[in-house]
Amino acid sequence: MTSSNNKSAPVLTIDGPSGAGKGAVSAGVARRLGWFALDSGAVYRAVAASALDQGVSADDEDSLADLCQDLALSFEAADTGIAVFLDGQPVDDRLRQEEVSVMSSKIALLPAVRAALLDLQRSFRRQPGLVADGRDMGTVVFPDAPIKVFLDASVKERANRRYKQLKEKGKDVNFLRLFRDLEARDRRDRERPVSPTVPAADAVVLDSTTMTLDEVIDKVLSIVRQRV
Ligand code: C5P
Repeated sequence: MTSSNNKSAPVLTIDGPSGAGKGAVSAGVARRLGWFALDSGAVYRAVAASALDQGVSADDEDSLADLCQDLALSFEAADTGIAVFLDGQPVDDRLRQEEVSVMSSKIALLPAVRAALLDLQRSFRRQPGLVADGRDMGTVVFPDAPIKVFLDASVKERANRRYKQLKEKGKDVNFLRLFRDLEARDRRDRERPVSPTVPAADAVVLDSTTMTLDEVIDKVLSIVRQRV
């Protein structure tokens, strides 16, 4: 497929704060449309995991940017969200580990890493279309995307959803701690100098606080139909 073909493929960007349900919504929408999926958070997590495996530190910007060059990542829209594969192997569990989360939020602040990941993220743009979720999909990575959604929800509701998910997995969780972690992460993501989590000027802001997952998916599909 030529790159001009890729460039003409429609992109739906879904940005928003942590825990807004971007992964589940993106997977549901990608499945219904038969489009490809890109979980850009997993891209940062994969670089973080490689850095940890290879002993590269969070302030070695040049080596981290080098690591970004040979990441063989792929995604699949599954029932439970977007499944991530590295060198063909499923890596969801590894990428969700706490040490990887912490490392990914550090390396996501580095301009050389963000720049090194631009082409990789754009290479997922393919016919018949791409659903790309993250923080800066509509503002930086795919500024020309014809459909942009900024998915939000109150901190309380996002903490509630995460609490239920973790409880279902049998984890021991503290609601107040989850709530405060989310609040702190929101502030860091919104106020960071590079690629802050803010809606693109042409994004539809969707507040999912009182909506079910299916309602959000239907709403996003109706936005796609209006624009493509
Ligand atoms: O969304 P997720 O928690 O998987 O993202 C992992 C890390 O990568 C977070 O620290 C987030 O701020 C960062 N990230 C980013 N830009 C994106 C997607 C995620 O900086 N487009």
